[in-house]
Amino acid sequence: MSSESPLWENPLRDSADRRVPRIAGPSGLVIFGVTGDLARRKLLPAVYDLANRGLLPAGFSLIGYGRRDWTKEEFEAEVLDAVRDRVRTPWRQAVWEQLAAGIQFVKGDFVTDSAFDDLAAMTRRMDEERGTGGNWAYYLSVPPQYFSEVCNQLERSGLADSTDGWKRVVIEKPFGHDEDSATELNRIVNSVFPESSVFRIDHYLGKETVQNILVLRFANQMFEPLFSSGYIDHVQITMAEDIGLGGRAGYYDGIGAARDVMQNHLLQLLALVAMDEPVTFSPDELKAEKLKVLKATRPVGPFAQTTARGQYTAGWQGSEYVPGLREEEGFDPASTTETYAAATFEINSRRWAGVPFHLRTGKRLGRRVTEIALVFKDAPHQSFSPEQTEAQKSNVLVIRVQPDEGVLLRFGSKVPGSAMDVRDVNMDFSYSEAFTEQSPEAYERLILDALLDEASLFPTNEEVEESWRILDPVLNYWATAGRPEDYESGTWGPSGADRMLSRHGRKWRRP
Ligand code: BG6
Repeated sequence: MSSESPLWENPLRDSADRRVPRIAGPSGLVIFGVTGDLARRKLLPAVYDLANRGLLPAGFSLIGYGRRDWTKEEFEAEVLDAVRDRVRTPWRQAVWEQLAAGIQFVKGDFVTDSAFDDLAAMTRRMDEERGTGGNWAYYLSVPPQYFSEVCNQLERSGLADSTDGWKRVVIEKPFGHDEDSATELNRIVNSVFPESSVFRIDHYLGKETVQNILVLRFANQMFEPLFSSGYIDHVQITMAEDIGLGGRAGYYDGIGAARDVMQNHLLQLLALVAMDEPVTFSPDELKAEKLKVLKATRPVGPFAQTTARGQYTAGWQGSEYVPGLREEEGFDPASTTETYAAATFEINSRRWAGVPFHLRTGKRLGRRVTEIALVFKDAPHQSFSPEQTEAQKSNVLVIRVQPDEGVLLRFGSKVPGSAMDVRDVNMDFSYSEAFTEQSPEAYERLILDALLDEASLFPTNEEVEESWRILDPVLNYWATAGRPEDYESGTWGPSGADRMLSRHGRKWRRP
């Protein structure tokens, strides 16, 4: 492929292919909500791993902002503690020491002017001492009700002022709880930061296998023609988790599975699987195609038959007997918040007319797996007899997002022997067998991209609002539809989910 090809500009390529190292320039990161679970589990280890891979500038600075009464040393010890157990790259003391020299903590809440003034003074100090060049990314890992205060304070204190270096805001979900609230949040954020400086996190887009959907479809000839109603009967997108709410009951109650992951991760997977080929892979062209397909997407009713909702009860998860949702600490037993959600969507386009997209997600299911299964129509004419093909099911193309990342194709094959019997076989590509390279953690990729101003893997304000527009009718229906069904932990969800598909003679895959 020549270097003049538009694909050469593909921002999703890794550094080896682009022959240009993707190293962040002078910059720093401020994390709001640094004492939270996400920061400890994902953000802080990701920063260390980026530093360890040599992708952060030497003077990189990390400022934690929070209400704790921590000194720099105490915060540094907290970061070390969070990082030590979770890093994916080998531990290197010299890298840690260099990173630690740029770690600072500023104590404050989201309303006190003087605290933000202290933060502004700290960033200026880091600019002078560490050479961060006035380039700052503000990571809002805080509940959305604080976005407005934080953005206003960033503006008031001059922290959002991009005259002397770029200023970007990175925002964690949940981004609103319906279309109206998301529109309002976007209005608030965009009143301080232009859209080009806003990076909304959907960590599924940072996953290697999710980016591979584009490669599978558009770098190859053999799959793409099949992605249409001519060949595909229906699509199943599954995000199953084996974990329960654990310590997150407070966050989760009132949000539920559909708002937590269907509005964002699952609808983004749908968009990537169903969109048309972008003219190039520049962020704008990619987003235009994603937005187009989201605009054509609607939930299919009647929702009593096309959706399902559940709450897990106690049961065996592997060899462990786990408590039910209503026994989880901090969860209101009267709550109707769902831990399982399934719904059916249609895409009103020539390519997908008549092909249902069934999406499901749940906690405490049989096992942890995320996959996209394109289930093919049966051959229009079958030359083999019903007896010969009775063991054959529909052909399926499965994009396995996690774990066991890879792609699987199921098709019928002749059973060895003198008879002409057909049985299903799998053709299986596995990342771990095909590549020696280790995939970076999604948060590593996304933090680096935000520092590099590469916006392809971040949903825009319009995509977020569209996704709520798609889901709102289902959420509104559920709000008046009584309690979710129960399902036992370790199973594959409520019986309503099976009924959803069986009315059309279909079945959920058991991944
Ligand atoms: C988050 C959800 O976005 O994704 C969590 O808020 C969920 O509820 C998590 O557990 C799953 O992420 P992953 O990467 O482990 O599939």
